[in-house]
Amino acid sequence: MQQAGHIFVTTAPRLGPILATELEELGYKPLSISSKGVALRGSFSDCLKLNLHLRTAYRVLWQFAEIEAKNAQELYDQACGLPWEEHLPASGYLRIDSFVSNPTIRDNRFANLRLKDAVVDRLRAVCGQRPDTGPGRHGACLFLHWAEKKAILYFDTTGESLSRRGYRLTSTPAPMQEALAAAVLRSTAWQPQQPLLNPMCGSGTIAIEAALMATRTAPGLLRDNFAFMHLHAFDRMYWNRLKMAAKAKVIRPRLTIEASDIDPQAVQAAKSNARTAGVSSLIRFKTMDFRQTKPPPPPGCIILNPEYGERLGDKEALKPVYRAIGDFFKQRCQGYTGYVFTGNRELAGHIGLRTKRKLEFYNGKIDCRLLEYELYAGRKEPEEN
Ligand SMILES: C[S@@+](CC[C@H](N)C(=O)[O-])C[C@H]1O[C@@H](n2cnc3c(N)ncnc32)[C@H](O)[C@@H]1O
Repeated sequence: MQQAGHIFVTTAPRLGPILATELEELGYKPLSISSKGVALRGSFSDCLKLNLHLRTAYRVLWQFAEIEAKNAQELYDQACGLPWEEHLPASGYLRIDSFVSNPTIRDNRFANLRLKDAVVDRLRAVCGQRPDTGPGRHGACLFLHWAEKKAILYFDTTGESLSRRGYRLTSTPAPMQEALAAAVLRSTAWQPQQPLLNPMCGSGTIAIEAALMATRTAPGLLRDNFAFMHLHAFDRMYWNRLKMAAKAKVIRPRLTIEASDIDPQAVQAAKSNARTAGVSSLIRFKTMDFRQTKPPPPPGCIILNPEYGERLGDKEALKPVYRAIGDFFKQRCQGYTGYVFTGNRELAGHIGLRTKRKLEFYNGKIDCRLLEYELYAGRKEPEEN
């Protein structure tokens, strides 16, 4: 399937430019960046490569058709006329997702249902058999993007989000999504030959993603199911060759990555997740208060993702924690670049140091910032006013 078509790679809001850079590094030319993702041109084979390598994406959508439909009946009629049998096995399993902004549709589920009816009716008529359908992401997936009259039909070649690498089998409260952690790391000044300290590591996502990046481990190597495997175009030999080429690029450099947390259960979870990701030997884990961290000689980076108090009353209790982060940065991390990822700007003010950069992210629906602090050696940081 070498024919070039339209590909849309989805990601979290605000990650589009980071994803676009990642795509460029993989040799692709982003055509446009929106709040939902990045558009580019490529073939089905490219979709496989993107699923294997991308760290900051959610899904790789491969455009199948663009149709005009004023309402659900027209969607059904048009979709019935498409050669689904060329791509979808009639005996497989199918899930449908959508974004719909059409005045005749009040509930996306109705659009999904009509599209499902069209695909199933078509396959039954042509192949004498129909696929099972449902909410599972273990088989083929379609995505409908329907805005006003224009409906774009995609094969979602990913299925379960790429952000779910498959290593986080043990979770802790408020874990950071893998794609977000990768985007945060890409936004820092960290170089793999420098120490990376991650106190308050929770389930270990930041440290694990750092180790995967530093070893050049393609994240898709950790998964064994993608939606593209359930399309006729899938060539397992080609996929195996892609994986072998990716494995050949993995390196084992000397790394100094330290992950710690005050909660022993979090450290256990982080260790076990790192083991599943194959990087546990590259990360030093400790159970301790972040103030006990002893940074190795600089330069290096230290990244903290403290709680940010979504419940009433939490905020008061967290003020001293943020103040202590500022003191710890100032007194113990000279020569380092410090980062705090937080969803509460008022609490961030209690860090009391001048930020060098403030980068905007979303964690789910929460407006977040990655605050960067240059922790100069040998002089006192000016207080933020
Ligand atoms: C928002 S979670 C971090 C989530 C993490 N980024 C992940 O991906 O799972 C905050 C973590 O900070 C830890 N923590 C809170 N106070 C701490 C302290 N004083 N020293 C070290 N860790 C602390 C909590 O136990 C919790 O695991």
